[in-house]
Amino acid sequence: MRGNDYFRELLGIKVLDAKDGYSKMSLKISKEHTNFVGFTHGGVVFALADCAFAEAVNFGDKQAVAVQVNINFLRPSSEGDVLTAEAITISEGKTFVLCSITVRKKNKTIALFSGLAYKMQSDKTF
Ligand SMILES: CC(C)(COP(=O)(O)OP(=O)(O)OC[C@H]1O[C@@H](n2cnc3c(N)ncnc32)[C@H](O)[C@@H]1OP(=O)(O)O)[C@@H](O)C(=O)NCCC(=O)NCCS
Repeated sequence: MRGNDYFRELLGIKVLDAKDGYSKMSLKISKEHTNFVGFTHGGVVFALADCAFAEAVNFGDKQAVAVQVNINFLRPSSEGDVLTAEAITISEGKTFVLCSITVRKKNKTIALFSGLAYKMQSDKTF
């Protein structure tokens, strides 16, 4: 990925693995990541999945931006949990790339994120 992902750094997300069409990230949940019921804020789980998505579709010189995403929050997590997000490209064409991102707490799936990204044409930058 070109440049820095400052929001990823702010949240404390770590990159475990990254290659073309694939990435794996982790985040240890702190109190600041939780919501009023003591669960990990949905926006934090979304952000972890979204960061893994971004890395997988922006590897090297590739540039792509999300155009549609969906997330299902299947299980809660809370302070002290270590979450991982694994992004795998399902389909890549000339214009769009579809990715599936699984967020896990140990061996349990806590969220499933699906992301469709638009591939920027090489003669344009953003
Ligand atoms: C919404 C929800 C309760 C519905 O669950 P369901 O389909 O009825 O299924 P279940 O009741 O079998 O629960 C699914 C899992 O969530 C856990 N869970 C459900 N309610 C819970 C609660 N109040 N506290 C902690 N864990 C809970 C269950 O233990 C189960 O985990 P397990 O399979 O590892 O034992 C569940 O999908 C969920 O908790 N999702 C996460 C919501 C979330 O964190 N949103 C973002 C922040 S608000």
